Amino acid sequence: MDIEIETSRLVLRPWSEADIEQLTLGLNDLDVAKWLAFVPHPYTASHARDWVSRCREIASASAQPTAYEFAIELKSELRAIGGISLNKIDPAAGTAGGGIWIANGYQGRGYGREAFDAKIRFAFRDLGLTKLVNGYFDGNESSWAMQRKLGYRPAGEVPSRCMADGRQTIEHVTTLLRSDWQGRVG
Ligand SMILES: CC(C)(COP(=O)(O)OP(=O)(O)OC[C@H]1O[C@@H](n2cnc3c(N)ncnc32)[C@H](O)[C@@H]1OP(=O)(O)O)[C@@H](O)C(=O)NCCC(=O)NCCS
Repeated sequence: MDIEIETSRLVLRPWSEADIEQLTLGLNDLDVAKWLAFVPHPYTASHARDWVSRCREIASASAQPTAYEFAIELKSELRAIGGISLNKIDPAAGTAGGGIWIANGYQGRGYGREAFDAKIRFAFRDLGLTKLVNGYFDGNESSWAMQRKLGYRPAGEVPSRCMADGRQTIEHVTTLLRSDWQGRVG
């Protein structure tokens, strides 16, 4: 099932073949990929094509998807400027994980927070989940700043590895409870 979520400046929508160029440009950038776990480097159009078809399979696999992979489209430019996911959805436990990236050149303008906020709303209000688990690699102050402002709290650390540059690192795990979020948004 194809879901679209609109915010004031963005549309979160399924990835398509038309996004291959933007997707490749955005992720073939070590400054972005070094903060993500599973992005190879260099990131080629072939990787992007595989990703788009995998997202299609995920979307059509089940009436109750275990993941939503959204392109973040900037309305004013009608192009994808990043990606955001809600994954590892466990309806029984009420939990899900996820991730986000915004292309260089579009960071620091509030798009990350706007997209993440919309994803949280979707997870808690539309899907009825109760707890979101996220994280960030050691040193990723932008991501932690964004998550903290959205109400995420520290929830431990786990060893991790970045595929793009091969380094071993620490992932700081973060969580957001629906009850805390409701208290903030009313
Ligand atoms: C992390 C990322 C998604 C944030 O998106 P963004 O669009 O750049 O962030 P925003 O502009 O929405 O900023 C969100 C908030 O964090 C704050 N912030 C961002 N970077 C910051 C920094 N380095 N230090 C302090 N605060 C920072 C902003 O001021 C903003 O607060 P405000 O809403 O009160 O103004 C983006 O920088 C990115 O894609 N980075 C590379 C990939 C990545 O790290 N992905 C996340 C993996 S966990």
